[in-house]
Amino acid sequence: METKIKGIDGIEEGARIIKEGGIVAFATETVYGLGADAFNEKAVAKIFEAKGRPQDNPLIVHIAGIEDAQRAAELTDTAVKLFKAFSPGPLTLVLKKKKELPYAVTAGLDTVGIRMPRHYAARALIQKSQTLIAAPSANSSTRISPTTALHVYEDMRGKIPLIIDGGDCAVGIESTVLDLTGNTPQILRPGAVTIEMLLKYLPEVKNFQGEIKTAPSPGMKYKHYAPIVDCVLSRTALSALKEYKRARAEGKKAVIMGRKGYISDKSVDFIDLGQTSEQIARNLYRKMREAEKIYNLIIIEEFSRKDLEYSIMNRLIKSSQGVII
Ligand code: TXA
Ligand code: MG
Repeated sequence: METKIKGIDGIEEGARIIKEGGIVAFATETVYGLGADAFNEKAVAKIFEAKGRPQDNPLIVHIAGIEDAQRAAELTDTAVKLFKAFSPGPLTLVLKKKKELPYAVTAGLDTVGIRMPRHYAARALIQKSQTLIAAPSANSSTRISPTTALHVYEDMRGKIPLIIDGGDCAVGIESTVLDLTGNTPQILRPGAVTIEMLLKYLPEVKNFQGEIKTAPSPGMKYKHYAPIVDCVLSRTALSALKEYKRARAEGKKAVIMGRKGYISDKSVDFIDLGQTSEQIARNLYRKMREAEKIYNLIIIEEFSRKDLEYSIMNRLIKSSQGVII
């Protein structure tokens, strides 16, 4: 199959493919998604096949307006309040599913993740398809999520007919997944909508802290956000440099990645991730994909555990399998 990349002029064609039961990759503000008609089980199955995704990992249902949510989920007052506060944007709410939504989307769960993306391409595609779009990130399973159309092409070439290129993703990491089906709202995956932000609207929110084996969000137990080369986190610039020199002495091609100015020694290969945490989130996956093509050891600065940096660290701990030097 030939995989075409089109700009927003490809949205009409994308909508037609979705209506006919096919799959299409499209830009969102977080990462690129790989979408299918959420009410067409056969179409949804194609997503799992193209990604090589484990069957027990549910998909997020993308909507264009709050009214759409009721087609797939039971909307609660809290859900409406949070959608009004943060949507369209990088927040996915886990709610009770409606029976009309096939279990193929939720991997057999009675709950469903609902998200209203902000990016024009995603919104127009949903509206023109006249359905809701089930979509995971458009990477091959276990690979880093794509934040450019070219990343999607690297992973999905020959497997999907169309990629709708909406430019570089503004947020750069996946949406916050908040489970509203328990007694206390629980963040299953931290993202750009942070616990600090949610606490302005909810009396209580907890971060999921537990054994990944029995994770309430099936996706959490898989190796995610991983570059194909070794990756470690560094507590200080000094420990990063020490590891860099040790690896180089062994003949390894090492690189250090961090906030602007983390390493000032010009003789060291250093990848600047940006100054603010928003910039770091936006650049992270693209820089990781670039680095893994050139280097075989990536040493990344350990960031704080506050606000957006908490979400960045959530990804980096998985990338490094928790190795901090
Ligand atoms: O930003 C995003 O959320 C992107 C864009 C494309 O919207 N999508 C995305 O999808 O990251 P995916 O499939 O790569 O990650 C969805 C995560 C998985 O960890 C999955 O297990 C979890 O959300 N999830 C989905 N439905 C769930 C449910 N009903 N209960 C618990 N976790 C759920
Ligand atoms: Mg994913």
